[in-house]
Amino acid sequence: MSHIAYVNGRYLPQADAYVHIEDRGYQFADGVYEVMCIWNGLPVDLTGHIARLNRSLRELSMASPASDGALTFIMKEVVRRNHVEKGTVYIQVNRGVAPRAHAFPSKNVKPSLVITAKHGAGPSESVAEAGVKVVTTPDIRWKRVDIKTVGLLPNAMAKQVAAEARAFEALLHVDGTVTEASSSNAWMVTPDKTIVTHPSTNAILSGITRATVIRIAKEAGYKVQERAFTVAEALKAKEVFLTGTTTFVMPVVQIDEKTVANGSPGTVALDLRQRYRAFMDGLTDTAWNA
Ligand code: PDD
Repeated sequence: MSHIAYVNGRYLPQADAYVHIEDRGYQFADGVYEVMCIWNGLPVDLTGHIARLNRSLRELSMASPASDGALTFIMKEVVRRNHVEKGTVYIQVNRGVAPRAHAFPSKNVKPSLVITAKHGAGPSESVAEAGVKVVTTPDIRWKRVDIKTVGLLPNAMAKQVAAEARAFEALLHVDGTVTEASSSNAWMVTPDKTIVTHPSTNAILSGITRATVIRIAKEAGYKVQERAFTVAEALKAKEVFLTGTTTFVMPVVQIDEKTVANGSPGTVALDLRQRYRAFMDGLTDTAWNA
């Protein structure tokens, strides 16, 4: 079965779906994107992802390619046409096609819109039950990583460092202070059981999963602190974990060559993972209401 992609107004077999060579996404990484989880055919945190997409567009003075309702309709249609039950939807908006010149083209240039869907959501349960290794690497990204642009080369390089070390993720740090990971947000649990994660500043992508996990954790009675922490603190923490659309809640049991606590997934991370899973299992058809 061939995958169906939506490209600028048309649903096409993925093999026939192309964008123009003078698309600014291709030449300047002048585009923004979202990855959203589909769980039992339903979107996880649709409104959060749409809000963040609109914010990214606004921050870059980029026109929106369609209304929230129209975007949702297309996403739903791409999910339906690809028969995705558990998977992800990818949505990318580029500034559009114009002769190569750095400054933004005229407002008449129409943004490009691509939406695809993939089967497979989150890592397997066995990975989460064992916990994962991360490696630390300097965060060499630009100063506006709060905007979800497709300029992901430093993230790809960091993930490659992780892959070569047979690690699940790369923990990014600036002079020893953890910002986030290459495609997920980073957290630790202090000895007094406070859950800590970097505040939503320009230095991290404000994860949609992060926001939901903060809500779920507070509802469950945990103390949550949004503050920066260092790699040294993480090494002394009770627990370390990651969150993200493609990660859910993932316990970290090793940082570089050192184990976190006793080297087993922590109870807080496992509890939050279970609660996050229950949140996804509890979605209903209203999840498609943008
Ligand atoms: N990445 N930080 C970075 C740098 C990310 O790329 C992501 C998500 C996150 C987590 O955000 P969210 O909870 O909204 O997924 C944090 C997606 C999955 C990706 O690029 O594939």
